[in-house]
Amino acid sequence: MNWPKELKVRVNYPLKNKTTFRIGGPAQFFSEPKDIPELKLLLELSRKKKLPVYILGAGSNLLISDKGVRGLVIQLGALRFKDIARENGFIRAGSAVLLGRLIRFAQGESLQGLEFLAGIPGTLGGALAMNAGCWGHNIGDLVKEAQVLGKDGRLRTLSAKQIRFAYRKSSLADYIILSARLKAKKGSQAGIKKNINKYLTARRLTQDLTWPNAGCIFKNPRNKSAGSLIDLCGLKGRNIGGAFISQRHANFILNKKKASSGDVLRLMRLIKKQVSNKFNLILHPEIKIWP
Ligand code: EPU
Repeated sequence: MNWPKELKVRVNYPLKNKTTFRIGGPAQFFSEPKDIPELKLLLELSRKKKLPVYILGAGSNLLISDKGVRGLVIQLGALRFKDIARENGFIRAGSAVLLGRLIRFAQGESLQGLEFLAGIPGTLGGALAMNAGCWGHNIGDLVKEAQVLGKDGRLRTLSAKQIRFAYRKSSLADYIILSARLKAKKGSQAGIKKNINKYLTARRLTQDLTWPNAGCIFKNPRNKSAGSLIDLCGLKGRNIGGAFISQRHANFILNKKKASSGDVLRLMRLIKKQVSNKFNLILHPEIKIWP
């Protein structure tokens, strides 16, 4: 299949090390467009070639099949998508900005309200697409507006009112997110730093940061914690192949010994079955599974 040379489309491109799980086969095609026109062209050509398109963020909430992904994987790695700036009381940031950088920027500008995101290893785009959240806050609450590219190739600016956010769900996932304007309040750098440290400590105390993983595997059922349900099934430490249920937080699966995607999927099925048998509740994955 031929692509225009300037698009620098790579063939059979390994994805494993682009995920925090360190699992997965290659992308049939992979590209990092340098700007919006290149991105549009990639989308248009994929449409013509009838290729599925996947957008890769920081790969932190993702399980990729060992067989790889048929189609085009796009990562918005270019500087154009990593801009970050203060706009009056708001922060405008590109979708490829890592949350850690976003928080440090806000701290440097004495803008508070983003600290709860500390320790989440994703990009702003990924966090917005799934309305990432923790400690009772969700990123959707911070959004003033978002600039997106539609499947039809049209650029749009969506105001907060035009976007739907729910638990780990956002209508922004229907688009390619390019940037967002986020609300923040004036604060003191010392106070912001204190908050960040508080959240990082809470994360260290409750979550498993030891082996490659993808964060929480299942969404929480209403008013319940998937981690505690899995724990109550006595599944901590259980493994299939190289995939282990964390001893520290039962909703974390760790890639301890070169786990295959099949190991993780089988372990997820086992968890679902046991939780369903014991509690009559169906767990739904929070992670994205490609393809
Ligand atoms: N618990 C157990 N056993 C476990 C894990 C948890 O008994 O193995 C208990 C805890 O003791 C606590 C309750 O379950 O009483 C809730 O646990 P935790 O505070 O760790 O929160 P969570 O509901 O498991 C959610 C999010 C996390 C987020 C934390 C903190 C989901 C699926 N998970 O976890 O998000 O960081 O709250 O706010 O919504 C993620 O999205 O990847 C993620 C990790």
